[in-house]
Amino acid sequence: MINVIGLGPGNENYITKLGENLIENSDVLIGGKRNLETIKDFKGKKIVLGSNLKEIVEYINNNIEKKISVIASGDPSIYGISKYLSENIDTKNLNIISGISSLQYIFSKIYVDMNDLYITSSHGKVPDFDYILSHKKVCMVTDSKIGPHKISKEILNRNLKRTIVVGENLSYDNERITIGSPEDILNIEDFDMNVVVILDEK
Ligand SMILES: C[S@@+](CC[C@H](N)C(=O)[O-])C[C@H]1O[C@@H](n2cnc3c(N)ncnc32)[C@H](O)[C@@H]1O
Repeated sequence: MINVIGLGPGNENYITKLGENLIENSDVLIGGKRNLETIKDFKGKKIVLGSNLKEIVEYINNNIEKKISVIASGDPSIYGISKYLSENIDTKNLNIISGISSLQYIFSKIYVDMNDLYITSSHGKVPDFDYILSHKKVCMVTDSKIGPHKISKEILNRNLKRTIVVGENLSYDNERITIGSPEDILNIEDFDMNVVVILDEK
């Protein structure tokens, strides 16, 4: 059985008990560098996941009898590895374990409910900001190209009133949560790994 395990936003205390037990009992652990670093005392084989997705799937399909766990940040079904693995591995061999997403984490920190939330991502695509900003409550996982600054500019270009929340390095010691107007966000020079919440001003 191949486990696909969400690790939560980063701090190891957010891993589910089930995920932790499955990892401990695995022969092979596959994941991105940041995620593999989270699992400190794993004794089995570790494989780093990067742009080698095809090779990883080939490896999994050729070793389907092994206890393999693929670890992913947050929830693997929110802009994560679940989609690709479900499309490329027979799902009868897949056991997906949800984790706490960075999106869920940020909403808990700002005391805003996630009801009717529009979830999107800027990873590897040009976001349709007209469509995105037509929603009252948005959360975007960002990449290094399109993040808080670009989002702020798109809001100002449309003369919209929005509050922006930027959650950086969530659950880590260097976590920073900034709440402000698009102008406030543009005054901050740099942001680390982040999710951005866009709230319609009441
Ligand atoms: C490929 S997506 C994965 C999202 C993940 N599946 C989740 O549910 O949180 C990666 C993006 O998630 C966001 N992210 C993940 N962990 C984060 C954290 N600890 N702090 C801030 N943003 C995070 C960032 O926008 C990052 O670029």
